[in-house]
Amino acid sequence: MRTTPSLLPLLLSLLLALLSLYPSQGSTLNCGSSDNSSTLEVMHVYSPCSPFRPKKALTWEQTILDMAAKDEARLLYLSSLVGQRSIVPIASGRQIIQSPTYIVRAKFGTPAQPMFVAMDTSSDVAWIPCTGCVGCSSSIFNTAMSSTYKPVGCSAPQCNQVPNPTCGGSACSFNLTYGSSTISATVSQDTLALAQDPIPNYAFGCVKAVTESPVPPQGLLGLGRGSMSLLSQTKSLYQSTFSYCLPDFRSANFSGSLRLGPVSQPQRIKFTPLLTNPRRSSLYYVNMIGISVGRQLLNIPASVLAFNTTTGAGTIFDSGTVFTRLVQPVYVAVRDEFRRRVKAGPVSSLGGFDTCYSQSIVSPTITLHFTNMNVTLPPENFLIHSTAGTITCLAMAASPGNVNSVLNVIANMQQQNHRVLYDVPNSRLGVAREPCTR
Ligand SMILES: *[C@@H]1O[C@H](CO)[C@@H](O)[C@H](O)[C@H]1NC(C)=O
Ligand SMILES: *[C@@H]1O[C@H](CO)[C@@H](O)[C@H](O)[C@H]1NC(C)=O
Ligand SMILES: *[C@@H]1O[C@H](CO)[C@@H](O)[C@H](O)[C@H]1NC(C)=O
Ligand SMILES: *[C@@H]1O[C@H](CO)[C@@H](O)[C@H](O)[C@H]1NC(C)=O
Ligand SMILES: *[C@@H]1O[C@H](CO)[C@@H](O)[C@H](O)[C@H]1NC(C)=O
Repeated sequence: MRTTPSLLPLLLSLLLALLSLYPSQGSTLNCGSSDNSSTLEVMHVYSPCSPFRPKKALTWEQTILDMAAKDEARLLYLSSLVGQRSIVPIASGRQIIQSPTYIVRAKFGTPAQPMFVAMDTSSDVAWIPCTGCVGCSSSIFNTAMSSTYKPVGCSAPQCNQVPNPTCGGSACSFNLTYGSSTISATVSQDTLALAQDPIPNYAFGCVKAVTESPVPPQGLLGLGRGSMSLLSQTKSLYQSTFSYCLPDFRSANFSGSLRLGPVSQPQRIKFTPLLTNPRRSSLYYVNMIGISVGRQLLNIPASVLAFNTTTGAGTIFDSGTVFTRLVQPVYVAVRDEFRRRVKAGPVSSLGGFDTCYSQSIVSPTITLHFTNMNVTLPPENFLIHSTAGTITCLAMAASPGNVNSVLNVIANMQQQNHRVLYDVPNSRLGVAREPCTR
């Protein structure tokens, strides 16, 4: 008991110290929605305005390792998509397990209930956690409070787009198993509002139960080009056209945009043709034909970059992977030339990154060559620096070797501060520099 009087001030100062670590962000940031007509604000999930940012500030190393670990799961998911599968699931366990990187605001139902949804260009379905969901976390869409909500019947065409649908009562449901996790969802329809656009009868998966793995608290908005995607369900409104500018996650403000429809898309932009893989209709394949480090065009055999619908090989743009992954021989060529150019001290590794320096470096640019389009990336699109500035790593890696690793994935860090335009009617993808980090 003698220690109590001296402990109290200590506890108080500890409490004050803890409080000062987490100042109220709202006082300096405007976290209200600034969505306009058909343009939505895009936030990084770690943004100060994101309700899903880590509760406890992570160190730089923790943040990088955390994002890289989530990428591993994402890559496995993408590889499973390009594998030899005939059934096209509208949602996979991986998508539910994996965490999102960029989120937008959406509203479901009448009256509208706000939800955050993750943007995912490699998936078609939208799904959100719904009333009564067992195993979901906080934000839930309350179906009973919506006058326009309806489950999709078993004879509806949307029911045929899910794997192994089951009919309980009149509703179309499906279960997905991934590893030891099972996800149960009901195919449903309701009004979805994006920015100022109401989209009636939008078909999505209402998640009812999840076992084993927790579901992220936000939903998912599939921006792929398969049958259940936003593009397919809003053909007349948005004409299968959208663009985004992803903000740099290292900036404190993190504000980008998702622009839906052909109106106000950039006029001055370089395009490369989109390629279609009938086995994976949702993915945005492009033809990457080479890579340069500085001015040096690397000697990469065309066969390792080639698009192949049978094996799923080729290159995709993906909004959900953080760090670009290249098939082994391509990554090795990039890395070796990069190291040769940088010529700085010993090389160390950090997590999956094998080219890190503990001193400042002078970096060359990296140019990705696509059919009809060269994209020259400045160092901020492929170098990560520790907060203290003591460690710099090349933020790309080889595709995971233990899976069907035939896919090059142009990931979101390499797309930051660029406008990426998906123009499906004209079968082309455009890229232009555009700072969108406030
Ligand atoms: C909406 O318009 C306001 C005012 O013009 C602008 O500040 C804001 O950035 C816009 N929002 C988006 C997401 O473009
Ligand atoms: C689907 O999952 C739910 C909840 O876990 C379970 O009650 C139901 O029996 C499962 N249905 C099938 C067909 O496996
Ligand atoms: C964030 O953006 C606001 C408004 O655009 C600006 O006033 C502020 O300085 C920015 N903060 C940082 C840390 O960049
Ligand atoms: C695609 O890959 C398969 C299997 O490796 C091969 O047999 C086929 O020739 C390839 N197709 C093209 C167009 O290269
Ligand atoms: C892209 O870069 C390569 C190599 O520098 C060059 O030969 C080619 O003409 C460029 N293509 C376009 C479309 O600018």
